[in-house]
Amino acid sequence: MRLDQFIAQSTGISRKEAKKFIRQGRIMLANRVTTNPAERTQGQAVHLDGDPLALPGHRYYMLHKPAGYVSATEDKEHPTAVSLLPSELRQGLHIAGRLDKDTTGLLLLTTDGQWSRRVTAPRYAVPKTYLVHLAEAITSTAIQQLETGLLLRGETQPTAPAQVELVNQHCIRLTIIEGRYHQVKRMLAAVGNRVEALHREKIGQILLPKGLLAGKYCELSPSDVSFF
Ligand code: URA
Repeated sequence: MRLDQFIAQSTGISRKEAKKFIRQGRIMLANRVTTNPAERTQGQAVHLDGDPLALPGHRYYMLHKPAGYVSATEDKEHPTAVSLLPSELRQGLHIAGRLDKDTTGLLLLTTDGQWSRRVTAPRYAVPKTYLVHLAEAITSTAIQQLETGLLLRGETQPTAPAQVELVNQHCIRLTIIEGRYHQVKRMLAAVGNRVEALHREKIGQILLPKGLLAGKYCELSPSDVSFF
C-alpha cells in the first residue's frame, strides 16, 4: 500500500492532507523520515509526529439472536440479525454461520472473511452445540443413531458422529461438527422426531454468556477471536 494511503486509512484524514504531512517530514517509515508519499509500506512501522499508526483492524461480535430474525445483512420481508447492531457498526459485517429464522442463540458477526471461513469451512470441523427441544420423547435407539451418524433425506453421505447429552426426555444437548442445511432439524426428523425449539449455545470455545439477553450483542474477547 502507498504510504499516503496508509496514513489516510489509519488516521481518517484525506490523502491530500496525508501527502502534506509526509512532505512536511512528520512521517517516519521504518524509523526514518521519508518525504515521498509514493513509498510503499509492507508491514514496517509508521509514525506520525513520533506516534505509531496502525490500520483499523477487523471487528468481531457475538449476538444473541432472537426468533423471527433472519441470518442476513439485508432482507425485504423479515427483520435481519444484523439490524440488531447499531448502524455505525454494521458497515462491512457478515455472519459467520447462519441460523434458521426460528432458531435462537449464538451468532457470530465479523468483517474478517478469512476468520469466518475458519469458523464455517467443513475442513475445520468446528463443534457447534445446540439445545434441542423435541416434540416426542427421545429413545435410546435415536441417541445411538445420532451418535453414530445417519443418512439425511436426499443425501448419500452420512452425518459425522454427534455428541448427545440427555437433558430430559424432551430435550437434548447436541454437538455437531458439520453445518449442513437445517442439519439439526433434519437429523431429528431422520430418527422419527421433530424439533420444537432450537437454541445454539456454543461455537468452538465461544459460549453464549447467560447475561447476554436475546437481541443483545457484545464484542468478542481477543482470546475468543484467536481461537479460530
Ligand atoms: N440446524 C438447524 O436445523 N437449524 C439451525 O438454525 C441450525 C442448525
